[in-house]
Order: sequence, then structure tokens, then C-alpha cells
Amino acid sequence: MCGIVGYIGSKNAVEVILAGLHRLEYRGYDSAGVAVVRDGNLEWVKSLGKLTALDKKLEEKPLNGPLGIGHTRWATHGVPSETNSHPHFDMQMEIAVVHNGIIENYQELREQLQKEGVTFRSQTDTETIAHLVRKYYKGDLFRAVQRALQDVTGAYAIGVVCKHNPDVLVAARHGSPLIVGLGDQEGFIASDVPAIMKYTRKVLYLDNGQVCEIRRDGYRVEDIQGKPVTLTLQHVDWDDAAAEKEGYPHFMLKEINQQPDVIRNTLRGRVEEGSDQVILRDMNISEEELKAFEKIVIVACGTAWHAGMVGKYLIEKFARTPVELDLASEYRYRDPIVPKNTLMIPVSQSGETADTLEAIRIAKKRGAKVASIVNVVGSSVARESHGVIYQQAGPEIGVASTKAYTSQCTAFALFAIWLAETRGLMSKSQAKELIAYLREIPEKIQWVLDNQEDIVRCAKDPKYLEAESALYLGRSFNFPSALEGALKLKEISYIHAEGYAAGEMKHGPIALVTDKLPVVCIAVQGDTYDKMVSNIQEIRARKGIVLTVATLGDEDIRAHSHDIFYVPPCYEPFSPIVVAVPLQLFAYYVAANRGCDVDQPRNLAKSVTVE
Ligand code: G6P
Repeated sequence: MCGIVGYIGSKNAVEVILAGLHRLEYRGYDSAGVAVVRDGNLEWVKSLGKLTALDKKLEEKPLNGPLGIGHTRWATHGVPSETNSHPHFDMQMEIAVVHNGIIENYQELREQLQKEGVTFRSQTDTETIAHLVRKYYKGDLFRAVQRALQDVTGAYAIGVVCKHNPDVLVAARHGSPLIVGLGDQEGFIASDVPAIMKYTRKVLYLDNGQVCEIRRDGYRVEDIQGKPVTLTLQHVDWDDAAAEKEGYPHFMLKEINQQPDVIRNTLRGRVEEGSDQVILRDMNISEEELKAFEKIVIVACGTAWHAGMVGKYLIEKFARTPVELDLASEYRYRDPIVPKNTLMIPVSQSGETADTLEAIRIAKKRGAKVASIVNVVGSSVARESHGVIYQQAGPEIGVASTKAYTSQCTAFALFAIWLAETRGLMSKSQAKELIAYLREIPEKIQWVLDNQEDIVRCAKDPKYLEAESALYLGRSFNFPSALEGALKLKEISYIHAEGYAAGEMKHGPIALVTDKLPVVCIAVQGDTYDKMVSNIQEIRARKGIVLTVATLGDEDIRAHSHDIFYVPPCYEPFSPIVVAVPLQLFAYYVAANRGCDVDQPRNLAKSVTVE
């Protein structure tokens, strides 16, 4: 998830672009760059690190011109570095491209272009677009971009300029957001409205597969095949404060709502078109190694550890390989046994958690192969691991992890399928079926997001809002959901909450059940449904307040529950990815209604970089 800004007009494009990029820095911040066209030249400045580093460089080497594009990067392919930062160029350095998204067939395109004599400078997927545009460029930048995009599969929002076309800014999108702003004899492009709110409120929302040519005196939009499109100009009336959060009151709520796209992005490029074969190249694990692992160790902290538990259940179910799950802080201090042929999978959103890093070092010293699941590209966990699955979830700003969790579970699902297929434990048709289930998850999450009335209502209900304590129960695949649901409530609303394996209820927690104790029971359809119903009855018999997460269409459960949050029917092993969402929303609304600082809960840090 990167930020793009572009400008054409009579102002200094660099000033407009920098001001806009600063408003988009929440979208990514590992490197930044800007390119302008002036007097038939294309000039640029790039810098590693936060935008302030680019500001500083531009103070030393001022740039200006009436046409330009800029970018703040959140790496998906290639580590954060100056070379990998945008804009990217064709070989002649005449065409510049900024891009947000993931080009799924970039390897293929790269090899093809290399055969045609192209030399690449970076490891990014974006650079392929610059070379493709050059390949088709015959003086008309708009047409060249259109043609280039016909070769591309994946998600993109791009801005393109060419030194031979000083009056044209070209933009296109598919799957990643991009807007066009229109002013008086000037035009803008941006990933998001706040970037250009200072200059204009007149906005065109480009749709998937559309390409726009912006000139000082007008614009045209066509699809990539060249069919003209008419878009309606919209007026934006957001206030400044709401803008970065795209109208949401908190980043946490925005991130919860991003999850359908996040899951799509985690899956993107990992399943071969046509064959439906899972490919996790960046894990750097050969087929022989994959077949030889005798033990897998998952280490993580906090929410990532809960995702690790989902991972353990998935790997053991599909790939029949023993998995040991450990808190990184425990692993590092307990003299762990690392037999030969051990694979360690650390899980970390930030990639900077101190305990997780130390666990990796210990496992490596003792001979394990380490392939991590990480969100932040180029982070310490990623660098110290032999391989990685990048989550492609975009920056997570709310301290309470939401989209990173569901994306980590999705990454584990992919890995488990890959492992099972490689070991001959899963047929192609079974894998295909599972991948189809995974692809349905974004819609199921969207359903939850579109049907939150019961969650909003319960979060205002004093029996939940004013509770001193809450219990969360789940079994099997949804035991980790209970742990994660309780953690969400506890960390942002400060209501004491415990997650328990429902089978353990009789071994202690049942003593706490009174008519003041809300018990959140995850009872979606699946192998353990009947057992969960028995637990619910036991709680009811002791007058506990039962809030059930159930499968849409399950009317019987009404008789046993005070309130119900429905989720669409879901293949049970993947249901934690969907079940997480109503629990996140519930915690969010309870915390917001209690007046808590949702995005920055007291005493918590987003990334725990000390022991
Ligand atoms: C902190 C955060 C959690 C996160 C945990 C692990 O406690 O508040 O949201 O799950 O650290 O962080 P990591 O970046 O390693 O996933």
C-alpha cells in the first residue's frame, strides 16, 4: 500500500506533490521519490526512509516543473532501498512511473522484457510497467499506457509522465485506489482525497480498468481497450481531520473495513492462474526441503501468536506435520530442542518484535531453516529469516492488530495447502476446492461489515458495555478466535476478558459465571458445534449472559443465546478469518462507547522492540 500524487498545471509540481505525499504518509513510509518534466527534461530525486529525508534532499537539490509524479512507498517486492523506490523509469530515462499495487505476472513480464534486451535496475514489479510503456510508446503516452496495461495482471494504480509529452499526465487503476482531481487549468492524481484537498474538492473516482489522460484544459477517460468512459464529477466535503482515516473516526475501524481487500492482497500472486497451484517463492524453500521437514515451530507474540495457533491447526490438519507453537518470549528462554529438519515460522506484523527476533537467532544457531510471515517488507524479522511470506496487508496503524491478524491466518492457509500438496497429502482437486473457499472469504467478511446492526446495538447495551469481565469460548479452529476476541476487548476497552478453550470451561472458568458475566461463545457450524451448544447450555443454566457468534441461518441457536452475531457459512478450518471480524467490531464499538483511546490504548505499543 503506497501513496501516489501527481500534478499538471502552472504551480511547482514538486510543492504540490510533497504536500500531498505528507498527507498520504500513513499509506507507507519506507522510501519516497518525485519526478518532474521541465523544458523537455525528466528530473527526479529519491530517498530512502521517511518523507522528511526526501524533503531534505530536495532542499539541497531543488527541483521544479509544472508536471510531475511522486510516491511514498510501502514495499511489496524488493527491500526498501533508493533503487527500489519510485518513480521507476524506462531504459532511456524518458518515461517515469509511480505505482501502488502488486503486478502478479511481473516475473513473466520481466523475463520476456529481458529477452527483448531490457536491463532492469531494481527488483520491483513496478519497473516492468515503465519498460512496457516504453515498448508500446509511439509518441502518444495515453495509448502506450493503455496498451501496456493489457499485458499486466494484478492490482495497480499508476501515474505516468514522459519527457516528450509535457502537457500530459496519465493515470490508471485496477484494484488499487486512484482519484483524479480537477482545478482551474490544472489537474491532480492521488491515491486518496486528503492529498489534494488543499487544492480542489472536484474529484473523479476512476474505476477498475480505466485510464485517464489529464491535460491542463481537460481530461479523457477510456478503458484499457480504448472504449470511452463517462465519469461523474463528485464534490468532496470531508473535513481535514477525517480525511486520512478516509472518513472513519479511527484507524482501527478503517483497518477492520479494509480486510476484504487485504485478504485479496495476501492471496494475490500466490496462486498460479489456471493451475490453482500455490506458489510461495519468497519463502526460499526447495521442494526437497519442504518434503524433508519433520517438525515445524511457530513463534510469535500477542495477536500474531493467535494467528500462529490458527496456523498450527491448519498445517496439522492438511499437511500432517507436527507443529510446536511457542510464545517467542518463552522459546528464547527455555533451551528449546531443535531436531534436524526443523522449519521455524516466525509471525510478526512489524517484523521488529525483540523476542521474535531472538527466537529466530536461537533457532538458526541450532540449525533450523527460518521462513517468516511478516507484514513490513525489509524489517528485521524478514532480513534475518531465510525466506518470507509478505502479508501484503499495507501499514497497520491502530495499535490493536486487526487486518494483520486475518492476513496472517490467510498466509498460513496458503502455506498449509502448499505443504500438503508438495507432500502428496492433498490432491489437485482438493487444493482447488480449498483455494476457492479462500477466495470467497473477502465476500463473507464484507457481509459482516455490511450487517453490523446487532454488533452496534450490543456494544451500547449496558450488560456488555458496563461489564467488569468477559469470557470468550471456542473450540478447535475457533479456540484461537476466542483468545483473539478476548485480547481485542481487553486491550482497547480495558474490560478484563479471558479466552478459553471451551472444553476447559469446567476446569475453572465456570466458577466465574453469574448473571453479570458476558460469555462470548463461538458456535459456528462445524465438527464442534454440538459441543459448543452444550457449553452454552451449561452457561445458561448458571444464568450467564450468552453472546453467540453463529452461522447465518442457524435459528436453533436463538433459543440458547441472549444475542447473536451471525457470520456467513464458512468452511470450518478457514472460519477464524471471518469470525475475527465481528469480534473486532464488537471490541471497537465497546471501547469507543466507553470513551477509550482506541488507536492508542494506554500502556501499549504497536511494536515491542525491547524485551
Ligand atoms: C504488540 C502489538 C500487537 C502485536 C504484538 C506482536 O503487542 O500491540 O498488536 O500482535 O505486539 O507484534 P508483531 O509486530 O510482532 O506482530
